[in-house]
Amino acid sequence: MLLNKKILVCVTGGIAVYKAVALVSKLTQAGAEVKVIMTDSAMEFVTPLSFQVMSRNDVYYDTFDEKDSSVVAHIDLADWADLVIVAPATANVIGKLAIGIADNMVTTTLLATTAEVWIAPAMNVHMYENKAVIRNIQQLHEDGYRFIEPAEGFLACGYVGKGRLEEPEKIVQLIMEKFSQVTDLPLAGKKVVVTAGPTRERIDPVRYISNFSSGKMGYSLAEAAVALGAETVLISGPVELPIPNGVQLINVESAAEMLEAVLSEFNNADVVIKSAAVADYRPKEQHSQKMKKQDGDSSIELERTTDILKTLGERKKEQILVGFAAETNDAIEYGMKKLSDKNLDYIIVNDVTDPDGGFGNDTNVVTLLSRKGKTYPFEAMHKKQLAKVLVKTILDLERDVPNDS
Ligand code: CTP
Repeated sequence: MLLNKKILVCVTGGIAVYKAVALVSKLTQAGAEVKVIMTDSAMEFVTPLSFQVMSRNDVYYDTFDEKDSSVVAHIDLADWADLVIVAPATANVIGKLAIGIADNMVTTTLLATTAEVWIAPAMNVHMYENKAVIRNIQQLHEDGYRFIEPAEGFLACGYVGKGRLEEPEKIVQLIMEKFSQVTDLPLAGKKVVVTAGPTRERIDPVRYISNFSSGKMGYSLAEAAVALGAETVLISGPVELPIPNGVQLINVESAAEMLEAVLSEFNNADVVIKSAAVADYRPKEQHSQKMKKQDGDSSIELERTTDILKTLGERKKEQILVGFAAETNDAIEYGMKKLSDKNLDYIIVNDVTDPDGGFGNDTNVVTLLSRKGKTYPFEAMHKKQLAKVLVKTILDLERDVPNDS
Protein backbone atom coordinates (compact mmCIF):
# COMPACT_ATOMS: atom_id res chain seq x y z
CA MET A 1 0.00 0.00 0.00
CA LEU A 2 2.97 2.32 0.37
CA LEU A 3 4.51 1.39 -2.96
CA ASN A 4 6.90 4.07 -4.24
CA LYS A 5 6.24 6.35 -1.27
CA LYS A 6 9.45 7.97 -0.04
CA ILE A 7 9.56 8.12 3.73
CA LEU A 8 12.38 9.72 5.68
CA VAL A 9 12.62 8.48 9.26
CA CYS A 10 14.52 10.76 11.66
CA VAL A 11 15.61 8.82 14.73
CA THR A 12 16.54 10.72 17.89
CA GLY A 13 17.97 9.37 21.11
CA GLY A 14 15.71 7.52 23.51
CA ILE A 15 15.19 3.93 24.52
CA ALA A 16 12.32 3.71 22.01
CA VAL A 17 14.89 3.70 19.18
CA TYR A 18 14.47 -0.09 19.10
CA LYS A 19 10.84 0.45 18.07
CA ALA A 20 11.98 2.71 15.24
CA VAL A 21 13.87 -0.30 13.83
CA ALA A 22 10.56 -2.19 13.71
CA LEU A 23 8.88 0.85 12.17
CA VAL A 24 11.44 1.04 9.36
CA SER A 25 11.11 -2.68 8.78
CA LYS A 26 7.30 -2.50 8.54
CA LEU A 27 7.40 0.52 6.23
CA THR A 28 9.80 -1.27 3.90
CA GLN A 29 7.62 -4.39 3.96
CA ALA A 30 4.63 -2.22 3.01
CA GLY A 31 6.47 -1.16 -0.14
CA ALA A 32 7.80 2.23 0.93
CA GLU A 33 11.25 3.46 0.09
CA VAL A 34 12.76 4.38 3.45
CA LYS A 35 15.83 6.42 4.35
CA VAL A 36 17.00 6.99 7.91
CA ILE A 37 18.85 9.82 9.64
CA MET A 38 20.10 9.33 13.20
CA THR A 39 21.35 11.68 15.88
CA ASP A 40 24.49 10.84 17.89
CA SER A 41 22.30 10.03 20.91
CA ALA A 42 20.19 7.63 18.85
CA MET A 43 23.37 5.80 17.90
CA GLU A 44 24.07 5.22 21.61
CA PHE A 45 21.05 2.89 21.63
CA VAL A 46 21.18 1.15 18.23
CA THR A 47 23.86 1.19 15.56
CA PRO A 48 23.20 2.59 12.08
CA LEU A 49 23.76 -0.91 10.71
CA SER A 50 20.37 -2.09 12.05
CA PHE A 51 18.59 0.70 10.16
CA GLN A 52 20.74 0.16 7.08
CA VAL A 53 19.71 -3.50 6.95
CA MET A 54 16.02 -2.76 7.56
CA SER A 55 15.81 0.13 5.10
CA ARG A 56 18.22 -1.34 2.55
CA ASN A 57 19.66 2.15 2.25
CA ASP A 58 22.62 4.07 3.64
CA VAL A 59 21.97 5.69 7.01
CA TYR A 60 22.83 9.37 7.48
CA TYR A 61 24.13 10.90 10.72
CA ASP A 62 26.93 13.30 9.90
CA THR A 63 25.97 16.60 8.23
CA PHE A 64 29.46 16.93 6.81
CA ASP A 65 29.86 13.41 5.47
CA GLU A 66 28.79 14.02 1.89
CA LYS A 67 28.52 10.57 0.31
CA ASP A 68 27.60 11.95 -3.14
CA SER A 69 29.58 15.00 -4.27
CA SER A 70 26.92 16.00 -6.82
CA VAL A 71 24.40 16.92 -4.08
CA VAL A 72 24.25 18.36 -0.56
CA ALA A 73 22.98 15.44 1.49
CA HIS A 74 20.61 17.19 3.92
CA ILE A 75 18.97 19.22 1.13
CA ASP A 76 18.78 16.20 -1.13
CA LEU A 77 17.12 14.09 1.58
CA ALA A 78 14.78 16.96 2.51
CA ASP A 79 13.65 17.29 -1.13
CA TRP A 80 13.47 13.53 -1.68
CA ALA A 81 10.90 12.75 1.04
CA ASP A 82 7.13 12.52 0.51
CA LEU A 83 6.78 12.34 4.28
CA VAL A 84 9.20 12.85 7.14
CA ILE A 85 8.60 11.12 10.44
CA VAL A 86 10.54 11.83 13.62
CA ALA A 87 10.34 8.67 15.73
CA PRO A 88 11.11 8.59 18.53
CA ALA A 89 11.11 12.35 19.00
CA THR A 90 12.82 13.43 22.20
CA ALA A 91 11.97 16.58 24.18
CA ASN A 92 15.30 17.89 22.88
CA VAL A 93 14.51 17.62 19.16
CA ILE A 94 10.99 18.99 19.76
CA GLY A 95 12.51 22.01 21.52
CA LYS A 96 15.09 22.58 18.79
CA LEU A 97 12.52 22.36 16.02
CA ALA A 98 10.14 24.71 17.85
CA ILE A 99 12.74 27.46 17.80
CA GLY A 100 14.40 26.59 14.50
CA ILE A 101 17.76 25.21 15.62
CA ALA A 102 19.70 23.23 13.02
CA ASP A 103 22.76 21.73 14.66
CA ASN A 104 22.91 18.17 13.36
CA MET A 105 21.87 16.09 10.36
CA VAL A 106 18.33 15.50 11.71
CA THR A 107 17.49 19.10 12.64
CA THR A 108 19.14 20.56 9.53
CA THR A 109 17.12 18.27 7.28
CA LEU A 110 13.91 19.01 9.22
CA LEU A 111 14.36 22.73 8.62
CA ALA A 112 15.15 22.16 4.95
CA THR A 113 12.19 19.98 4.03
CA THR A 114 8.92 21.20 2.58
CA ALA A 115 7.35 17.74 3.00
CA GLU A 116 4.83 17.06 5.74
CA VAL A 117 6.61 16.27 9.03
CA TRP A 118 5.08 13.96 11.64
CA ILE A 119 6.46 13.85 15.14
CA ALA A 120 6.06 10.80 17.37
CA PRO A 121 7.26 11.80 20.84
CA ALA A 122 8.63 9.35 23.41
CA MET A 123 9.87 10.40 26.82
CA ASN A 124 9.30 10.19 30.55
CA VAL A 125 5.77 11.22 31.60
CA HIS A 126 7.03 14.18 33.64
CA MET A 127 9.12 15.41 30.75
CA TYR A 128 6.05 15.12 28.49
CA GLU A 129 4.05 17.20 30.96
CA ASN A 130 6.81 19.77 31.42
CA LYS A 131 5.59 23.27 30.62
CA ALA A 132 8.41 23.97 28.15
CA VAL A 133 7.69 20.73 26.28
CA ILE A 134 3.95 21.50 26.19
CA ARG A 135 4.75 24.98 24.89
CA ASN A 136 7.05 23.63 22.20
CA ILE A 137 4.53 21.01 21.09
CA GLN A 138 1.85 23.70 20.81
CA GLN A 139 4.18 25.88 18.79
CA LEU A 140 4.86 23.02 16.40
CA HIS A 141 1.13 22.31 16.10
CA GLU A 142 0.63 25.93 15.15
CA ASP A 143 3.48 25.68 12.65
CA GLY A 144 1.65 22.83 10.91
CA TYR A 145 3.51 19.79 12.25
CA ARG A 146 1.42 16.71 12.89
CA PHE A 147 1.87 14.75 16.12
CA ILE A 148 1.39 11.08 16.79
CA GLU A 149 0.48 11.15 20.46
CA PRO A 150 2.46 8.84 22.72
CA ALA A 151 0.57 5.99 24.34
CA GLU A 152 0.08 5.41 28.06
CA GLY A 153 1.65 2.50 29.90
CA PHE A 154 4.83 1.28 31.52
CA LEU A 155 7.76 3.49 30.64
CA ALA A 156 11.34 2.30 30.49
CA CYS A 157 12.24 4.73 33.28
CA GLY A 158 9.95 2.82 35.65
CA TYR A 159 7.04 5.25 35.62
CA VAL A 160 3.56 4.41 34.40
CA GLY A 161 2.02 7.20 32.30
CA LYS A 162 1.93 8.88 28.95
CA GLY A 163 5.16 8.87 27.01
CA ARG A 164 5.51 5.54 25.19
CA LEU A 165 6.25 5.80 21.50
CA GLU A 166 3.11 4.76 19.63
CA GLU A 167 3.36 1.17 18.37
CA PRO A 168 5.03 0.83 14.94
CA GLU A 169 1.95 -1.00 13.56
CA LYS A 170 -0.26 1.97 14.48
CA ILE A 171 2.19 4.48 12.97
CA VAL A 172 2.30 2.49 9.73
CA GLN A 173 -1.51 2.38 9.70
CA LEU A 174 -1.68 6.20 10.08
CA ILE A 175 0.82 6.63 7.26
CA MET A 176 -1.21 4.30 5.05
CA GLU A 177 -4.37 6.29 5.84
CA LYS A 178 -2.57 9.51 4.93
CA PHE A 179 -1.54 8.25 1.53
CA SER A 180 -4.93 6.66 0.82
CA GLN A 181 -6.60 10.00 1.64
CA VAL A 182 -5.00 11.55 -1.39
CA THR A 183 -7.42 9.76 -3.64
CA ASP A 184 -10.01 7.71 -1.77
CA LEU A 185 -11.55 9.68 1.05
CA PRO A 186 -14.56 11.97 0.50
CA LEU A 187 -12.97 15.09 1.98
CA ALA A 188 -9.54 14.57 0.37
CA GLY A 189 -8.26 17.87 -0.97
CA LYS A 190 -10.80 19.86 1.07
CA LYS A 191 -10.04 22.20 3.92
CA VAL A 192 -12.27 22.10 6.98
CA VAL A 193 -12.02 24.71 9.75
CA VAL A 194 -13.59 23.84 13.10
CA THR A 195 -13.88 26.15 16.11
CA ALA A 196 -14.26 24.64 19.56
CA GLY A 197 -14.46 25.34 23.26
CA PRO A 198 -15.31 28.49 25.17
CA THR A 199 -13.74 31.91 24.89
CA ARG A 200 -12.39 33.83 27.88
CA GLU A 201 -13.00 37.54 28.15
CA ARG A 202 -10.59 39.09 30.62
CA ILE A 203 -11.70 41.41 33.39
CA ASP A 204 -8.27 41.88 34.90
CA PRO A 205 -5.06 39.78 34.99
CA VAL A 206 -6.65 37.15 37.27
CA ARG A 207 -10.35 37.11 36.32
CA TYR A 208 -12.39 36.41 33.23
CA ILE A 209 -15.91 35.72 31.96
CA SER A 210 -16.39 32.39 30.24
CA ASN A 211 -18.83 29.47 29.90
CA PHE A 212 -18.96 25.72 30.53
CA SER A 213 -18.18 24.57 26.98
CA SER A 214 -15.81 21.58 27.16
CA GLY A 215 -14.78 21.62 23.48
CA LYS A 216 -15.65 17.89 23.17
CA MET A 217 -18.08 18.36 20.28
CA GLY A 218 -15.71 20.56 18.27
CA TYR A 219 -12.70 18.31 18.89
CA SER A 220 -14.78 15.30 17.79
CA LEU A 221 -15.86 17.13 14.63
CA ALA A 222 -12.24 17.95 13.81
CA GLU A 223 -11.32 14.29 14.33
CA ALA A 224 -14.18 13.22 12.04
CA ALA A 225 -13.03 15.66 9.33
CA VAL A 226 -9.45 14.31 9.49
CA ALA A 227 -10.74 10.73 9.25
CA LEU A 228 -12.58 11.65 6.05
CA GLY A 229 -9.38 13.02 4.55
CA ALA A 230 -9.77 16.77 5.09
CA GLU A 231 -6.96 19.15 5.82
CA THR A 232 -8.34 20.24 9.19
CA VAL A 233 -7.66 23.40 11.16
CA LEU A 234 -8.98 23.42 14.73
CA ILE A 235 -9.30 26.85 16.30
CA SER A 236 -9.75 26.24 19.98
CA GLY A 237 -10.53 28.25 23.07
CA PRO A 238 -9.01 27.08 26.38
CA VAL A 239 -9.95 23.40 26.96
CA GLU A 240 -8.46 20.35 28.64
CA LEU A 241 -8.55 17.88 25.75
CA PRO A 242 -5.89 15.91 23.88
CA ILE A 243 -5.13 17.33 20.44
CA PRO A 244 -6.60 14.99 17.80
CA ASN A 245 -4.05 13.41 15.45
CA GLY A 246 -3.72 15.15 12.15
CA VAL A 247 -5.26 18.52 12.96
CA GLN A 248 -3.53 21.85 12.77
CA LEU A 249 -4.33 23.46 16.12
CA ILE A 250 -4.60 27.20 16.65
CA ASN A 251 -5.09 28.16 20.29
CA VAL A 252 -6.99 31.33 21.07
CA GLU A 253 -8.40 32.86 24.22
CA SER A 254 -10.91 35.63 23.51
CA ALA A 255 -13.69 36.14 20.97
CA ALA A 256 -11.52 38.78 19.30
CA GLU A 257 -8.62 36.34 18.90
CA MET A 258 -10.98 33.68 17.57
CA LEU A 259 -12.38 36.12 15.03
CA GLU A 260 -8.88 36.95 13.79
CA ALA A 261 -7.87 33.28 13.53
CA VAL A 262 -11.08 32.27 11.74
CA LEU A 263 -10.84 35.12 9.24
CA SER A 264 -7.25 34.21 8.43
CA GLU A 265 -8.38 30.66 7.50
CA PHE A 266 -11.73 31.50 5.90
CA ASN A 267 -10.84 32.43 2.33
CA ASN A 268 -9.38 29.08 1.37
CA ALA A 269 -11.69 26.95 3.53
CA ASP A 270 -14.27 24.65 1.96
CA VAL A 271 -16.25 24.00 5.13
CA VAL A 272 -16.36 26.01 8.37
CA ILE A 273 -17.99 24.47 11.44
CA LYS A 274 -18.45 26.93 14.29
CA SER A 275 -19.04 24.80 17.35
CA ALA A 276 -17.27 27.19 19.74
CA ALA A 277 -19.32 28.79 22.48
CA VAL A 278 -18.17 32.32 21.77
CA ALA A 279 -18.88 34.98 24.40
CA ASP A 280 -21.49 37.47 23.22
CA TYR A 281 -20.19 40.12 25.61
CA ARG A 282 -16.84 41.15 27.02
CA PRO A 283 -15.95 43.64 29.76
CA LYS A 284 -15.88 47.11 28.28
CA GLU A 285 -12.70 47.80 30.16
CA GLN A 286 -9.86 45.34 30.80
CA HIS A 287 -7.93 46.32 33.89
CA SER A 288 -4.17 45.91 33.62
CA GLN A 289 -3.92 45.49 37.39
CA LYS A 290 -5.93 43.24 39.69
CA MET A 291 -9.14 44.98 40.76
CA LYS A 292 -9.32 45.49 44.50
CA LYS A 293 -12.55 44.83 46.33
CA GLN A 294 -14.49 47.85 47.57
CA ASP A 295 -17.22 48.18 50.14
CA GLY A 296 -20.67 47.49 48.72
CA ASP A 297 -21.75 45.99 45.41
CA SER A 298 -19.98 46.29 42.13
CA SER A 299 -20.87 45.88 38.47
CA ILE A 300 -18.97 45.34 35.27
CA GLU A 301 -20.05 47.09 32.12
CA LEU A 302 -20.15 44.74 29.14
CA GLU A 303 -19.94 45.40 25.43
CA ARG A 304 -20.87 43.13 22.52
CA THR A 305 -18.23 40.99 20.84
CA THR A 306 -18.32 40.58 17.06
CA ASP A 307 -20.64 37.76 15.97
CA ILE A 308 -18.04 35.67 14.13
CA LEU A 309 -20.56 33.41 12.44
CA LYS A 310 -22.60 36.33 11.17
CA THR A 311 -19.45 37.97 9.82
CA LEU A 312 -18.60 34.75 7.97
CA GLY A 313 -22.16 34.55 6.62
CA GLU A 314 -21.78 38.05 5.18
CA ARG A 315 -18.42 37.24 3.55
CA LYS A 316 -19.26 33.72 2.41
CA LYS A 317 -18.60 32.74 -1.21
CA GLU A 318 -18.39 29.00 -1.95
CA GLN A 319 -17.80 27.94 1.66
CA ILE A 320 -20.27 25.66 3.41
CA LEU A 321 -21.01 27.37 6.70
CA VAL A 322 -22.23 25.33 9.66
CA GLY A 323 -23.28 26.99 12.90
CA PHE A 324 -24.39 25.75 16.27
CA ALA A 325 -27.24 26.98 18.41
CA ALA A 326 -27.40 26.31 22.11
CA GLU A 327 -30.99 26.75 23.22
CA THR A 328 -33.04 26.05 26.31
CA ASN A 329 -36.50 26.38 24.69
CA ASP A 330 -38.13 26.54 21.22
CA ALA A 331 -34.87 25.16 19.86
CA ILE A 332 -35.96 24.46 16.25
CA GLU A 333 -37.68 27.82 15.85
CA TYR A 334 -34.69 29.77 17.21
CA GLY A 335 -32.34 27.57 15.19
CA MET A 336 -34.15 28.29 11.92
CA LYS A 337 -34.04 32.00 12.67
CA LYS A 338 -30.29 31.93 13.37
CA LEU A 339 -29.72 29.90 10.18
CA SER A 340 -31.42 32.52 8.05
CA ASP A 341 -30.21 35.63 9.97
CA LYS A 342 -26.58 34.49 9.76
CA ASN A 343 -26.78 33.18 6.14
CA LEU A 344 -25.75 29.63 7.11
CA ASP A 345 -26.00 26.40 5.13
CA TYR A 346 -26.64 24.26 8.19
CA ILE A 347 -27.18 24.74 11.87
CA ILE A 348 -26.84 22.11 14.57
CA VAL A 349 -29.35 22.82 17.27
CA ASN A 350 -28.55 21.74 20.73
CA ASP A 351 -31.09 21.68 23.58
CA VAL A 352 -28.75 22.32 26.49
CA THR A 353 -31.42 21.36 29.03
CA ASP A 354 -31.54 17.77 27.69
CA PRO A 355 -29.87 15.50 30.32
CA ASP A 356 -28.13 13.57 27.48
CA GLY A 357 -26.74 16.66 25.82
CA GLY A 358 -25.10 19.98 26.30
CA PHE A 359 -21.88 21.30 27.77
CA GLY A 360 -19.44 18.92 29.37
CA ASN A 361 -21.38 15.71 28.62
CA ASP A 362 -19.81 12.96 26.54
CA THR A 363 -23.11 12.52 24.73
CA ASN A 364 -25.25 14.99 22.84
CA VAL A 365 -28.72 15.19 21.30
CA VAL A 366 -29.01 17.50 18.31
CA THR A 367 -31.13 18.34 15.31
CA LEU A 368 -29.50 19.37 12.05
CA LEU A 369 -31.37 22.07 10.15
CA SER A 370 -30.58 22.77 6.50
CA ARG A 371 -30.82 25.95 4.45
CA LYS A 372 -33.71 24.28 2.61
CA GLY A 373 -35.68 24.33 5.85
CA LYS A 374 -35.44 20.58 6.52
CA THR A 375 -34.87 19.10 9.97
CA TYR A 376 -32.78 16.01 10.70
CA PRO A 377 -33.09 14.91 14.34
CA PHE A 378 -30.48 12.56 15.84
CA GLU A 379 -30.79 10.21 18.80
CA ALA A 380 -28.61 10.78 21.86
CA MET A 381 -25.14 9.48 21.10
CA HIS A 382 -21.50 9.84 22.09
CA LYS A 383 -20.08 13.10 20.73
CA LYS A 384 -17.39 11.22 18.77
CA GLN A 385 -20.02 9.10 17.04
CA LEU A 386 -22.34 12.05 16.54
CA ALA A 387 -19.55 14.09 14.96
CA LYS A 388 -18.98 11.36 12.35
CA VAL A 389 -22.70 11.10 11.61
CA LEU A 390 -23.10 14.89 11.32
CA VAL A 391 -20.14 15.35 8.97
CA LYS A 392 -21.30 12.43 6.84
CA THR A 393 -24.90 13.68 6.71
CA ILE A 394 -23.80 17.15 5.62
CA LEU A 395 -21.57 15.59 2.97
CA ASP A 396 -24.41 13.42 1.67
CA LEU A 397 -26.81 16.37 1.59
CA GLU A 398 -24.27 18.46 -0.31
CA ARG A 399 -23.65 15.71 -2.83
CA ASP A 400 -27.28 14.84 -3.37
CA VAL A 401 -29.03 18.20 -3.28
CA PRO A 402 -32.39 16.88 -4.64
CA ASN A 403 -32.90 14.87 -1.42
CA ASP A 404 -32.69 18.08 0.55
CA SER A 405 -35.18 20.11 -1.45
N1 CTP B 1 -21.17 32.75 17.58
C1 CTP B 1 -20.14 33.46 16.99
N2 CTP B 1 -19.73 34.65 17.52
C2 CTP B 1 -20.29 35.13 18.63
C3 CTP B 1 -21.36 34.42 19.25
C4 CTP B 1 -21.77 33.23 18.71
O1 CTP B 1 -19.60 33.01 15.97
N3 CTP B 1 -19.87 36.28 19.13
C5 CTP B 1 -21.59 31.50 16.96
C6 CTP B 1 -21.34 30.24 17.76
O2 CTP B 1 -20.06 29.70 17.44
C7 CTP B 1 -22.44 29.32 17.29
C8 CTP B 1 -23.55 30.27 16.93
O3 CTP B 1 -22.98 31.56 16.82
O4 CTP B 1 -22.10 28.63 16.11
C9 CTP B 1 -24.72 30.35 17.86
O5 CTP B 1 -24.35 30.63 19.15
P1 CTP B 1 -25.47 30.84 20.28
O6 CTP B 1 -24.77 31.29 21.52
O7 CTP B 1 -26.38 29.69 20.36
O8 CTP B 1 -26.34 31.96 19.66
P2 CTP B 1 -26.23 33.49 19.49
O9 CTP B 1 -26.23 33.77 18.04
O10 CTP B 1 -25.10 34.04 20.29
O11 CTP B 1 -27.66 33.97 20.06
P3 CTP B 1 -28.30 33.91 21.51
O12 CTP B 1 -27.16 33.96 22.49
O13 CTP B 1 -29.16 35.10 21.53
O14 CTP B 1 -29.07 32.64 21.57
